[in-house]
Amino acid sequence: MLTEVTAIRYVTPLREGGSLPGLVEADDFGTYVMKFTGAGQGRKTLVAEVVCGELARRLGFRVPRLVTVGLDPVLGLGEPDQEVQELLKSSGGTNLGMDFLSGALGFDPLAFGASPEEAGRIVWFDALVNNVDRSWRNPNLLVWRGDLWLIDHGATMIWHHNWPGAQASAARPYDASEHALQSFAPDIEAAAAELAPLVTEELLAEVTAEIPEEWLADEPGFDSTDALRRAYVEPLLARAAVIHERIKGDK
Ligand SMILES: Nc1ncnc2c1ncn2[C@@H]1O[C@H](COP(=O)(O)OP(=O)(O)OP(=O)(O)O)[C@@H](O)[C@H]1O
Ligand SMILES: [Mg+2]
Repeated sequence: MLTEVTAIRYVTPLREGGSLPGLVEADDFGTYVMKFTGAGQGRKTLVAEVVCGELARRLGFRVPRLVTVGLDPVLGLGEPDQEVQELLKSSGGTNLGMDFLSGALGFDPLAFGASPEEAGRIVWFDALVNNVDRSWRNPNLLVWRGDLWLIDHGATMIWHHNWPGAQASAARPYDASEHALQSFAPDIEAAAAELAPLVTEELLAEVTAEIPEEWLADEPGFDSTDALRRAYVEPLLARAAVIHERIKGDK
């Protein structure tokens, strides 16, 4: 289970984020980057953050710790910014939080480097979850204390937006030609040899068990949230075995 905290103060919006993530203080004295269920992208974005973030962490990647953040919509009443006020008012209940990496810099492929090993592991992982949001335009990688950290897994697993077509959609190749690390000669073969065997049904069951129940309720076509959790396992398990052969790297 992800640690549960409660928001006590909305500090400031993180203006760069398309989904209007904000900084909040919680009742455990922590400061979190908070992503809201009421944001335009909807709760599936948050499900994707949990599945991919927790999977990446278990595969040895650096990912900020994830928590759930309980929000009382009254917190929005004192907000002067209309957009923020609306977002808080529509996000009562369980939201997502992640440790705020204070002082982290956005990864810039021209200013920072990555070894072929590290680039390969990240490209392979992004191919596994079909992450379309790690391009050189918008890397969603942070450099903190000299290391690369993965953030923003909301735009992954496109198949979970259309479950009846999920199997076909998940079988598709991955286009890495615009990936932020494509210019660092990613060693995909080595990454696949190391990581694919770790992506087991057991590991994926452990990861999907972390999704808050509230975000899974009432999904059309599923008669229980457990069935929906299992639906997340299958495409990832299938892709882990083959995706390294289906990564398109050149423009
Ligand atoms: N854990 C963190 N620690 C420090 N800064 C962070 C953290 N998470 C996000 N940020 C900062 O906030 C920005 C927006 O976060 P994120 O990319 O997750 O939001 P988003 O709304 O999904 O963004 P977009 O769709 O525009 O990529 C990041 O580019 C980064 O600068
Ligand atoms: Mg982002």
